[in-house]
Amino acid sequence: MRLVLSRSSFSVMHLFLIAIPLCHALVATPSIPEVDVAIIGGGLSGLSAAKELAAANKSIVVLEARDRVGGRVLNANLAGKDVQELGGEYIGPTQNRVLALAAELGLPTYKTYTEGNSTFYRNGTARHYKDGLGGIPPVGLDTLVELAVFMTDINNLASTVDLEEPWNTPNATALDSMTLETYVNSKLSTSDSRVLLDVAIPAILSTEMKEPSLLYSLWCIAAAGDETGPGTINRLIGVDGGAQDSRVSGGTQLLATLLAERLGSENIYLDTPVRKVQLKESRYLVSSDENTVSARHVVCAMSPPLVTRITFDPPLPAGRDQLNQRMPMGALGKAIAIYPSAWWRDEGLNGVGVSDTGAIRVTYDNSPADGSFGAMMGFIEADEMRKLDTASEDEVKRQVKQSFANLFGPRVDDATDVLIQRWDLEEFSRGGPSALMPPGVLTQYGSYLRAPVGRIHFAGTETSLRWIGYMDGAISSGERVAGEILENW
Ligand SMILES: *[C@@H]1O[C@H](CO)[C@@H](O)[C@H](O)[C@H]1NC(C)=O
Ligand SMILES: *[C@@H]1O[C@H](CO)[C@@H](O)[C@H](O)[C@H]1NC(C)=O
Ligand SMILES: *[C@@H]1O[C@H](CO)[C@@H](O)[C@H](O)[C@H]1NC(C)=O
Ligand SMILES: *[C@@H]1O[C@H](CO)[C@@H](O)[C@H](O)[C@H]1NC(C)=O
Repeated sequence: MRLVLSRSSFSVMHLFLIAIPLCHALVATPSIPEVDVAIIGGGLSGLSAAKELAAANKSIVVLEARDRVGGRVLNANLAGKDVQELGGEYIGPTQNRVLALAAELGLPTYKTYTEGNSTFYRNGTARHYKDGLGGIPPVGLDTLVELAVFMTDINNLASTVDLEEPWNTPNATALDSMTLETYVNSKLSTSDSRVLLDVAIPAILSTEMKEPSLLYSLWCIAAAGDETGPGTINRLIGVDGGAQDSRVSGGTQLLATLLAERLGSENIYLDTPVRKVQLKESRYLVSSDENTVSARHVVCAMSPPLVTRITFDPPLPAGRDQLNQRMPMGALGKAIAIYPSAWWRDEGLNGVGVSDTGAIRVTYDNSPADGSFGAMMGFIEADEMRKLDTASEDEVKRQVKQSFANLFGPRVDDATDVLIQRWDLEEFSRGGPSALMPPGVLTQYGSYLRAPVGRIHFAGTETSLRWIGYMDGAISSGERVAGEILENW
């Protein structure tokens, strides 16, 4: 699929340059392909922008650093056994862009498995419970009351957020000068409610509560909905009817690979990490180590911190660059244990687990729709992931199995395979699921997030107004950027 553009013409051109120096410009120009839009990044945001631009008859090229499309969406193909998702996986109601794309590509969806009891490992004991109280495990009445009040309060506060311009939210400066943890500490007093938030927040943002600002966290909550239903923390943590409601048949990477197929492999350069974007005579020269394309518009379809690894000439404005510098990636891994069957279902369990300790604090039944084999998935989040960034794969697997065993008992050891994906170690992701904003960033630099610089445009799930950090946000950001480009053609 990869096209090597400049190499083949080099030696011939070299002769020309020596023989007819006056014709330098005439000879050099045609060797650089010209497109309307060069899109840097072949994840869901870049591919969605490409799709819209191609539909408007603009010529595009997608420059992707990896040897595959999909970015933080990745299928593991299991020998003779369907697939497992190692990156973005779940979709749910109000995620209208990703639901529409799945439908358009002819990909059916199916519900995440939730029949049976959930499991809570706390103070060294696993308890099973009927998940009937909005996903809250068996804890004391004081904790239940405190959590119910907390969720109402944070949802109410989130409803005051200005989605388009969160820096204009009432009290924005105060809300952005504290961490989410400061707010949570002011609201929660029981040790069980703190523990449950310490599990829930990393499961949503892949950060510890002490990392993101309160305003940024409220913005993410407010964005977890649509025109018909405002965003709530309940929707973010929910399975049935929430963000973990459904899965995509064949795995979510098909969303990217089918989009790429439509665009045509000749328009997608794989193994092409872009190093430089240079403005020259009103065109942008977009270069990897081996290729250069000339484009009228450029789309950076990646997380803001990864943009800092590209050299811009002239440099990006200070505010844009400071924003890129200030948004770190969350720390995230996924572990999936494979079994001949989903044996926990026979024990009346749905595989949903919440734990107060260990590498994995949240689990789901990840078996395929037809239940032809069993898969148990757990997230390795934030500080737990950081602890294991440098561990051997065997050590990660050992700790993962220990976490699963705390929740589900010794049968966990019967796994035929354990898949591990550490997003922190991916050169072209450097963490996941997205970049976040510590205190002070959204109010000071938020206005740079979506603002184009000349004809350089910024996509990526972080720039979305809906479902920030999700596949849905990535898709809508690509669509937004395509609209921006076409409007200003
Ligand atoms: C794109 O080009 C095709 C074929 O030339 C034409 O039928 C179609 O109307 C064009 N679409 C747009 C949006 O210009
Ligand atoms: C766990 O232990 C702590 C104190 O050690 C206690 O406050 C809490 O209620 C216990 N939780 C459960 C669910 O047993
Ligand atoms: C702003 O914060 C102050 C102090 O915390 C509070 O009294 C006030 O109600 C807040 N205003 C709004 C609109 O949230
Ligand atoms: C599920 O939990 C409920 C309440 O804790 C219990 O009564 C029921 O027997 C459990 N069901 C199964 C299948 O284990």
